[in-house]
Amino acid sequence: MSAPIAIIGTGIAGLSAAQALHAAGQEIHLFDKSRGSGGRMASKRSDAGALDMGAQYFTARDRRFVDVVQQWQARGWAAEWTPNLYHCSAGKLRASPDEQLRWVGTPRMSAITRAMLGALPVTFSCHITEVFRGPEHWHLQDADGQTHGPFSHVLIATPAPQASSLLAAAPKLAGAAASVAMEPTWAVALAFEQPLETLVEGCFVQDSPLDWLARNRSKPGRETLLDTWVLQASSEWSKEQLDLPKDAVIEQLHGAFAELIGCAVPAPSFSLAHRWLYARPATAHQWGVLADANLGLYACGDWCSSGRVEGAWLSGQEAARKILEQLQ
Ligand code: FAD
Ligand code: NAI
Repeated sequence: MSAPIAIIGTGIAGLSAAQALHAAGQEIHLFDKSRGSGGRMASKRSDAGALDMGAQYFTARDRRFVDVVQQWQARGWAAEWTPNLYHCSAGKLRASPDEQLRWVGTPRMSAITRAMLGALPVTFSCHITEVFRGPEHWHLQDADGQTHGPFSHVLIATPAPQASSLLAAAPKLAGAAASVAMEPTWAVALAFEQPLETLVEGCFVQDSPLDWLARNRSKPGRETLLDTWVLQASSEWSKEQLDLPKDAVIEQLHGAFAELIGCAVPAPSFSLAHRWLYARPATAHQWGVLADANLGLYACGDWCSSGRVEGAWLSGQEAARKILEQLQ
């Protein structure tokens, strides 16, 4: 019996590959440094219910992804979100409806990756620091000094800066990953006892520290008595304020929100800030996957594709296809 395939990262890219490899009869084992799956599709459980602090919604443009999203919908993992959309630039707030289909996980964004993981074998709270090859197989070293293996192939499904150091055994791939800069995003959640007097449920923002805000409670399945909002800062602002204490980030983004939303915004009854260091690739690539088939080392993720949920899923599919091709 051959050794299993290791997958580092249980975001949507790693899980997309894991599902495809498992369906093809391959033995896999997943690792993640976090305590749960989802990566940037994570939701934070809080006193104000579950809050989508990373990906806000996703669109499906590729036929293969459209098909899989419909399956998720049929299983109750995802639903359409039809917010009252607005746009705000130079301080002017305007309704900005469109025909785009937008999807969210139900009852929270992380429900999708949680369901995709299912009963697949996984080790959480395991920060992989090195991927190295023995005479025949691959092994992984973690931050606690433990070694995991042997593995026949390793798929690295982390953001590019984390992938580049794990790809040291394949310098060309490591160089490609190192060339992808990823930009930060500060995200803040606010909850109010009384609903704010506005029709806004989602808003694309320009000329402000913010670049997006959403009424989390307007998404399907979010049961909470509080009026919950998620505000996301622009990459520029997030870079400039990277080391600002969380309280100050909340205060500043709450202020920017109050300025643009056009109704009274009281002090929130609950607030929370999260800093995503590697939120989005600065430039888009169309690699699909990085692969060294001779070595059996691969990397995938949103940064190999469109920098969105759809791109990450497609990249995972492409990685699985390459691995299966090599196994034939
Ligand atoms: P990730 O989700 O980052 O998964 C990587 C996983 O690897 C993580 O779980 C991490 O813990 C793990 N990991 C990293 N290093 C190690 C290590 N050394 N050892 C073990 N595990 C490790 N996309 C959209 O389509 N629509 C949106 O509205 C949208 N909004 C966004 C808003 C924010 C604030 C952010 C941050 C992202 C947003 N995105 C959005 C982008 C979308 O979330 C990502 O494109 C997608 O989730 C990336 O998936 P991934 O699997 O490639 O990476
Ligand atoms: P989409 O088609 O809804 O949005 C793409 C872009 O088009 C938006 O960023 C916005 O600028 C514009 N837009 C769309 N509809 C609009 C409307 N009704 N009015 C005004 N402008 C509108 O979704 P897509 O292509 O799936 O993109 C995903 C979203 O995720 C984008 O908004 C992107 O900025 C965001 N994202 C955020 C990240 C972060 O770290 N904050 C990381 C990755 C994606």
